[in-house]
Amino acid sequence: MELIRAEEVMASHPEHERLAHDPAYAFGSAYVADHFCPIYEASVPLIDCGFMHADAVYDVVSVSRGAFFRLEGHQARFARACDAIRVRNPFSREREAEILHELVARAGLRDAYVWWTVTRGQPPMGRSEMVNAANFDNRFYAFAVPFVFLADDEQRTRGIDLIVSRDRIRIPPRAVDPTAKNFCWLDMQMALFEAGERGAEWAVLTDEAGYLAEAAGANIFAVIDGTVVSPDSGCLEGLTRRSVVDLCSELGLPAELRRVHADEFRAAQEAFMTTTAGSIMPVRSVDGIPIGGRNGPGEISVRLHNLYWEKRWGGWHATPVRYELAV
Ligand SMILES: Cc1ncc(COP(=O)(O)O)c(C=O)c1O
Repeated sequence: MELIRAEEVMASHPEHERLAHDPAYAFGSAYVADHFCPIYEASVPLIDCGFMHADAVYDVVSVSRGAFFRLEGHQARFARACDAIRVRNPFSREREAEILHELVARAGLRDAYVWWTVTRGQPPMGRSEMVNAANFDNRFYAFAVPFVFLADDEQRTRGIDLIVSRDRIRIPPRAVDPTAKNFCWLDMQMALFEAGERGAEWAVLTDEAGYLAEAAGANIFAVIDGTVVSPDSGCLEGLTRRSVVDLCSELGLPAELRRVHADEFRAAQEAFMTTTAGSIMPVRSVDGIPIGGRNGPGEISVRLHNLYWEKRWGGWHATPVRYELAV
């Protein structure tokens, strides 16, 4: 089965054509300090703890063919993340959604990567006041840019070269809760550099005991004895991961969230990663060894990838963008 070249479709299909927009929004739109602006005018105060301490939670939702995907699911996850780190979102769920719609509408995007955050914000003046979460001035920021494929058509078609990081482990959940999507990326970024040094393109991190947690910016899956498996803990509860589990049941494929040891992973028949910014990304090698003895993506990975895009473009979990909000 040929993998759908989703990037090419977005660049050429009339239903993906960008709508008329103010040229100032050509590179994207942002919402900062309570106003909309072109993305290149957006900035963050130096003393925002989001910047200084990676003290923030965020979420990313995608738009394709003029519709958000699982918008309510992303907003619900974001609300849980805010509660988990004790920041107050200054906006209601409805107003938050309206801002996200307006960002996409202003830039006229039919395919978009839409990011938003609430940061801890400006710290209170006295150190002793830092013990109280209510003393911080939490801040909301957001932006929308043209859709981002973390793995392009070519990479998804041939499969990604992945390593299991030897140098790093995923930050333990008791230190930073990975289910609250947050700014702490250093473990994952350093593992990505390790991947580069080892001649690969991407890295997956384990916990201290060698069980898979997640890849840098993506959930990890394997096909083991015909079952599609992914870690049940130590990772973000990805919306794309949830979509894959749904797609498996539609295809009659057994799927299970459970602990997966790195050794079991290396011996899997197939592997792939999932993330909003890139969808389902097949893997072709792990630690330099072709996965499943092939030199390319596995059949189940490609079937899931293609069904994901077909269903999305067919209106699955779609919320049409309110383009009338553009001014
Ligand atoms: C650490 C991490 N894990 C998993 C994911 C995948 O989550 P989702 O499918 O909701 O985009 C992401 C997405 O950015 C991520 O940053």
